Amino acid sequence: MNLLVVGGGGREHAIIKKLKENKSVSAIYALPGNGGIAADATCVSIGATDIDKIVEFAVANAIDYAVVAPDDPLVLGCVDRLREKGIPCFGPDAKAAIIEGSKAFSKNLMKKYGIPTASYEVFTELPKALEYLKTAPIPTVIKADGLALGKGVIIAQTREEALEAVTDMMANAKFGKSGSTVVIEEFLTGPEVSVLAFTDGKVVKPMVSSMDHKRIGDNDTGLNTGGMGTIAPNPYYTEQIAAQCMEEIFLPTIAAMNAEGRTFKGCLYFGLMLTPNGPKVIEYNCRFGDPETQVVLPLLESDLLTVMQACTNGTLAETEVKFADKCACCVITASGGYPESYGKGYEITMTTDAAAHTYVAGAKLEDGKLLTSGGRVTGTTAVADSLADAVKKAYELANGVEFENAYRRSDIGQRALAALK
Ligand code: AMP
Ligand code: GLY
Repeated sequence: MNLLVVGGGGREHAIIKKLKENKSVSAIYALPGNGGIAADATCVSIGATDIDKIVEFAVANAIDYAVVAPDDPLVLGCVDRLREKGIPCFGPDAKAAIIEGSKAFSKNLMKKYGIPTASYEVFTELPKALEYLKTAPIPTVIKADGLALGKGVIIAQTREEALEAVTDMMANAKFGKSGSTVVIEEFLTGPEVSVLAFTDGKVVKPMVSSMDHKRIGDNDTGLNTGGMGTIAPNPYYTEQIAAQCMEEIFLPTIAAMNAEGRTFKGCLYFGLMLTPNGPKVIEYNCRFGDPETQVVLPLLESDLLTVMQACTNGTLAETEVKFADKCACCVITASGGYPESYGKGYEITMTTDAAAHTYVAGAKLEDGKLLTSGGRVTGTTAVADSLADAVKKAYELANGVEFENAYRRSDIGQRALAALK
């Protein structure tokens, strides 16, 4: 089979490595892929949002199955366009991808169908938002409506900060068009859990739970990022909570999307907060999480391609989705300065052991050298019988990844380890 994977980050590297385990796979093309993915797939320099070129390439290269991994091509309808050409895909169509593409949509969906989430208001006019903030409870949470690379969320600790954030988004277009509509919501507290779930629109099969570390600094300080490291499983996510989430969140979400005529097929990501009043949805993503995927897929024992095809074909009920009873930890190595400005073009070196456990996110190949080209550069994953061992091993391996100005959080997994005690 000829496979095509749209995207070019650490998540796509993890997906490609897993897909390669299937013996019927003869070729994998990554569009655009990256310098590290080039070791595992044929990278073609077509951007992940260049839908016309992606479709053209897929047709010309007899692609049998396509995996569209990032949010923007999904929201732009890449899956719809490939399907029109008869190419089966993993991922939701544009109608369903809106669950991530518009926070106003997803908040209204949850309200309409009684799915637990933070209370909120949606604003399209700055003066109304500013008026509302005069009396809103503080801290408050301000979110740009559209896609913003995981950075469109501001937790305002003071009223001034809230006013400034809303003004930045709505009047100064800090997140471009994504911020012309904003959601202002209740500040929730509690441990966060990421649950990625396979669904064919009929049944939902959650993957092993995970915990992201979104802030740039140790002890969850500093700016929000795309994610600085992950562990799986998440110790806060007990069997009882999992059952409650299935009942109150996962199944109702699938049913709600069906009722709206927006059947979701693919990987639905539930960003949850375990509040004192029960689990609540912080966000939905219409895709695999990054770097959650880098701990979840290494624990998947079932064949990824088979499971993905079952989501496409509506046969997930009779397809086994099995995870190893082990733990994983992924440590991101980023360019110093990220998520603000950072340098690029530094040569990356890895020990053999590190390279074997590392997914490459932001790097390009030039004259045979791997050079940094993004904020999050690599994700190094270790699997072990205990979380403590996975964390220890992941750091030992990640220390073998070097480039100028490299930065890692030093506490990935520590909160989870403390919770286990
Ligand atoms: P999001 O991009 O919506 O996942 O938000 C990024 C991060 O902001 C989340 O992982 C949470 O840590 C935090 N966050 C988002 N919404 C809330 C909320 N309502 N209350 C508290 N923290 C939140
Ligand atoms: N790690 C969070 C995300 O993929 O959005």
